[in-house]
Amino acid sequence: MKIRKAVFPAAGLGTRFLPATKSQPKEMLPLVDKPVIQYVIEEAMASGIDNIIIVTGRGKNAIEDHFDVSYELEKILEGRGKTDLLEQVRAISKMVSISYVRQKEALGLGHAILVAKPLIGEEPFAVLLGDDIIDAEVPCTQQMISVFERHQSSVLATQVVEGPDISRYGVIKGEPVGADSEPARTYHVQDLVEKPPYSEAPSNLAIIGRYILTPEIFEVLEHTRADKSGEIQLTNGLRLLLERQSVHAYRFEGKRYDAGDKLGFLIATVEFALKRDDLGADFANYLRGLKF
Ligand code: UTP
Repeated sequence: MKIRKAVFPAAGLGTRFLPATKSQPKEMLPLVDKPVIQYVIEEAMASGIDNIIIVTGRGKNAIEDHFDVSYELEKILEGRGKTDLLEQVRAISKMVSISYVRQKEALGLGHAILVAKPLIGEEPFAVLLGDDIIDAEVPCTQQMISVFERHQSSVLATQVVEGPDISRYGVIKGEPVGADSEPARTYHVQDLVEKPPYSEAPSNLAIIGRYILTPEIFEVLEHTRADKSGEIQLTNGLRLLLERQSVHAYRFEGKRYDAGDKLGFLIATVEFALKRDDLGADFANYLRGLKF
């Protein structure tokens, strides 16, 4: 089956980015001049997905407004003859058809995905988290779709995280599949653990915010118990899914930026700005002149 739909959970509280996220969704923080969620939606579109579902919550209206038509702004830009900016603004609202579904309470990533069930139905789908911005020659979601097409199973994106930082992630225990690369890129998942202590991590393969999920995940999430903090964790749902069907993990090609974390966001901002034709050279000059 073809992957046509993608879910973008964006109903989290974004506490790591307070106070910026008190009245503004973290998905709308600009990386240079584009909100982070737009990068992720562009990745899904470049991977052949044309049906986008954003899970929003309270205080997230700015996301809907960003992808909507803004008549007033268009009129003003038109009147001022700012055709370049006008084109950019129009392109955003014409990008793709987006549906919104509301998660009334931030009850966890697993719950946010469950809320999208009526809009997905009985087909495999992608999940993309705006916290992870991935710069890759072949869009990460497209790489994941290729693995799904080969194995017809759920696929989790992973990357190697060395040292104690691994305990900030969901971590897989996996058996390499075939010889697609050395070390392997594709793994048959045997188990997964959420945020293990460094000494107990089953591998150095951390789960990153890109997933291809089979529709069975919904039934499994409906039976996944909330954790101590009252949240339904996707990792716990995936463990139940593993009992029913095989799940693969894929070590994607590309560089991932953790845009949900302050330092990760700053690193992404600097690197994306340096790559820009219109800003890169001047920004590099400025950085070279800084005294540390
Ligand atoms: P995070 O674990 O990063 O949580 O969620 P968060 O609340 O957004 O941010 P911090 O940790 O407090 O700073 C991972 C993804 O799952 C979504 C978030 O929007 C983010 O894309 N999410 C999380 C939901 O949609 N609903 C939830 O209840 C929790």
